[in-house]
Amino acid sequence: MDQLNVAIVGGTGNLGSALALRLGAPGVKIIIGSRDAEKAKNAVATLKPKLRAGELVGTTNREAVKDADFVVIAVPYEGHSQMVSDLKGQLAGKIVIDTVVPLNKVKPFVPPAGSALQEAQQILNGEAPVVGALHNISAVDLGDVDAPLGDVLVCGDDVAAKQRVMEIIQRIGATAYDAGPASNAYVIEGLTGVIIYLNRKYKSKHGSIKITGIGNH
Ligand SMILES: NC(=O)c1ccc[n+]([C@@H]2O[C@H](COP(=O)([O-])OP(=O)(O)OC[C@H]3O[C@@H](n4cnc5c(N)ncnc54)[C@H](OP(=O)(O)O)[C@@H]3O)[C@@H](O)[C@H]2O)c1
Repeated sequence: MDQLNVAIVGGTGNLGSALALRLGAPGVKIIIGSRDAEKAKNAVATLKPKLRAGELVGTTNREAVKDADFVVIAVPYEGHSQMVSDLKGQLAGKIVIDTVVPLNKVKPFVPPAGSALQEAQQILNGEAPVVGALHNISAVDLGDVDAPLGDVLVCGDDVAAKQRVMEIIQRIGATAYDAGPASNAYVIEGLTGVIIYLNRKYKSKHGSIKITGIGNH
């Protein structure tokens, strides 16, 4: 398998760090991005002992995306549009994986663009395909590389990019579903608000989704 370079913008956080551990495999280079290069390096030092295989480095978000094939956006919604704008001009030839859920405190809302994914799409204006994924997965389970993972709904308008992201999702041990175009993203993003509610209500950190009735695909 070819070398795979994945940058995680906001990779010092809960989701990004957990994803880095899941991605760890021979031939994979994971680049943890941060607004602060030192913070990224510290995160790498913490994560490295838990990494199964592969290469892990840390740098600024802007540097992180340079050699990446895939760029995962894993920052809170408050920083989403600014971050995507800051990276614009650096993303041609890459696939952007947007994990961001628009939340106001813990409540989901629909942003003016229709969803976080469509916001990124608007900002990038065709520079790179944007694929939504990993919104409904628990960062706690993602970071526990032996824990079973739920299903991942993958959406976006670029069919080839979506297929490649689904392959990555399968590689990390989850089951990926093609959940349609970017216009479906608000549903998938919003579902996370429900999962957060369920986690609080039932005192769990593992809430996730399971698709039934589809069969093997
Ligand atoms: N946590 C989950 O279980 C989970 C599950 C599914 C989806 N998500 C989504 O994934 C994204 C990340 O979630 P998270 O829990 O990992 O968030 P987080 O830990 O609060 O933040 C992730 C990283 O984003 C950077 N950041 C924080 N505020 C920022 C801002 N205003 N502008 C730019 N960068 C900022 C920080 O990195 P630096 O300080 O190093 O720059 C931080 O470590 C969110 O949009 C969330 O909705 C999370």
